[in-house]
Amino acid sequence: MRQEKPLILVVDDEESNIIVFKRPLVKAGYEVMGVSDGAAALMAVAENDIDVILMDWMMPGMSGVEATANIKVTPQGQLIPIIMVTAKADQTDIKAGLDAGADDYITKPVEMEEALARVRSALRQRLLEKGLHEANEQLRRLMELKDDFLNIASHDIRSPLASILGFADELQREDTGPLNEKQKRYLDIIVRAGKRQLKLVNDLLDLARIETGKDELHKTLVMMDSLLAETCEAMLYTAKEKEITLTRVKGCSQPLMADEGKILRVLSNLVSNAIKFTPKGGAVEVSCKAAGGECVVTVTDSGVGISAEELPKLFGKFSKLSSRPTAGEHGSGLGLSITKQIIDMHKGRIWAESAAGQGTSLHFALPLGG
Ligand SMILES: Nc1ncnc2c1ncn2[C@@H]1O[C@H](COP(=O)(O)OP(=O)(O)OP(=O)(O)O)[C@@H](O)[C@H]1O
Ligand SMILES: [Mg+2]
Repeated sequence: MRQEKPLILVVDDEESNIIVFKRPLVKAGYEVMGVSDGAAALMAVAENDIDVILMDWMMPGMSGVEATANIKVTPQGQLIPIIMVTAKADQTDIKAGLDAGADDYITKPVEMEEALARVRSALRQRLLEKGLHEANEQLRRLMELKDDFLNIASHDIRSPLASILGFADELQREDTGPLNEKQKRYLDIIVRAGKRQLKLVNDLLDLARIETGKDELHKTLVMMDSLLAETCEAMLYTAKEKEITLTRVKGCSQPLMADEGKILRVLSNLVSNAIKFTPKGGAVEVSCKAAGGECVVTVTDSGVGISAEELPKLFGKFSKLSSRPTAGEHGSGLGLSITKQIIDMHKGRIWAESAAGQGTSLHFALPLGG
């Protein structure tokens, strides 16, 4: 069991020096352990929950500097403050001790009041470091739990959803027989809800993978103009449904190194937002240009805009702002945070310009070249 009182280890080859420290330390309310060489000190650190070490500098065999260096590389030892006790006030020796990992030093003959003050200060440091260490451990355990959850979520949530959508699709194609109007309507609702759920799970998993550093970029040479063309083609139907004019302006003929799939994801997030937050009959323009060694892409819409107060929250997680979709579309507020993380991974920049009721321009810039 852990002792109630702080445990101080005194390392000195002379028994009498240990006794000199022991009395005042015990009086000050500490437990004291004494050992006579570096090897015994290492053993004591491995077997006890030591809070502070007072380490003699000059010892036969393993010197204080060596013992300090050896203790500081052990998992338990690295968190224990070590106060060197030296007869010399030689600056080079003190420097060597501090470089070896000692946290402080006192000189002989020992001025006991000062020594006790230094022990108290080392104990404060020990408490802080222990607290930090425990918090770190807890965080590590939580991260593990999160990883486990992600693994379960990615498999156990996605698989049933895939069968729901797969079988719904079979029914919709009327492979299993004709459907009446009501059944078609209900199936349509099932499919749309299922797709929304799948998008949410995929977005959450993508974000978690990026945030835990598990996602890597697979960069190849890409032409931004072609990616814009591909995105606009994919979005044409959605734009048409809302009678939104979707135009594309070419302007970046230089290639850049980027993860094509991820940049397509960014473009599709930005263009789908532009369409989602623009009322029927509006306009969305996607353009790119080369400027200052960067490829700058801009997605501009004539939609509902974002107020100056809300702009700083735009790239936050789950940030659904007061600008609402204009035709009952859905979203979970993850698209732009994923977008920002992808741009950050590419060491690019992303920013927005907007005003409520005035439309919005989202820009991102990626370094040009290889
Ligand atoms: N072009 C835009 N015009 C006006 N508001 C926008 C625009 N783009 C984003 N926003 C605002 O920022 C919020 C966050 O956008 P984001 O793309 O992260 O989420 P979402 O589109 O609501 O959901 P998701 O992308 O996860 O489907 C939106 O809910 C909306 O309020
Ligand atoms: Mg979005």
